[in-house]
Amino acid sequence: MDGLVASVSGSTLPHRGQHAVSSSAPLGVFDSGLGGLTVVRALREALAFENIVYLGDTARVPYGTRSAETVIRYARGCARVLIERSVKALVVACNTVSAVALDVLRAEFDLPIVGVVEPGAFAAVAAAEAAGLACGVMSNVGVLGTPGTIASLSYPRAVARLTTRFEVIGRAAPLLVPLVEEGWLDGDVPTLAVRRYLEPLIQANVGVIVLGCTHYPLLKSTIARVAAELAGRDVPIVDSAVATAQEVVRMMADGRIARNPADAVGELRLLVTDLPESFHASARRFLGQQAPAVTAIDLPPG
Ligand code: DGL
Repeated sequence: MDGLVASVSGSTLPHRGQHAVSSSAPLGVFDSGLGGLTVVRALREALAFENIVYLGDTARVPYGTRSAETVIRYARGCARVLIERSVKALVVACNTVSAVALDVLRAEFDLPIVGVVEPGAFAAVAAAEAAGLACGVMSNVGVLGTPGTIASLSYPRAVARLTTRFEVIGRAAPLLVPLVEEGWLDGDVPTLAVRRYLEPLIQANVGVIVLGCTHYPLLKSTIARVAAELAGRDVPIVDSAVATAQEVVRMMADGRIARNPADAVGELRLLVTDLPESFHASARRFLGQQAPAVTAIDLPPG
């Protein structure tokens, strides 16, 4: 993180020599809707003293079925709203945005930005190696994601940057986002949808399955159960949230922008672009605890 100096909590830190950020400033996190709260949960476990502002673009969810151009435009709007709130770094808690817009955001905005695909790929390779060692055979890496994430080939590329030992088989699973947004997490309908999406992955001999969408961890037990039924053995399920939080910890240490752990417990602020009441009602499931009040905001046109 070039240009960042000083590490005293609450100090003003020159950022890339242009504008100042404070280590006591919040982290900005965004996704299309509720899914990114799975990353917020992991961030709060890893960095309890950090303040977080979360934006769920509920007026425009889902992102995963839209064109890359549209997702880039939406992502710019979310980043601007959070930067206006003086965040010290951005966490893109959305695989679709991380897959198609991360480079654009990094080029256009002058602050550290972490996505979820690289950490997810890292966690997938570690899990695939462990699974291969356990059964003595190296198998493939399966990725469930939105159509945008799968079409971008971002996971095969991210895995290939780490190792050439695994082939990555992607499968778009567009129905899973609305099921999660609806809170429809078990029973016949999610089981049938998950089965349809998993069958080709299991037939392709995947040794691990990556949840390549931040909504999918809510369906993890259904996915694990159906994968085990289809494969006749347990298939490790990889969720990028914890790996992303670890990457954010590293980024903040490198940039020396972490808040002092001796400071008070960090606050979470929740912003949405539509339907704050239903977001609040569902947020608890994602956060694992009562959600704070949710504020509705407008995004600037663009
Ligand atoms: N949760 C997001 C992702 O990880 C977006 C899902 C969507 O809006 O389609 O891709």
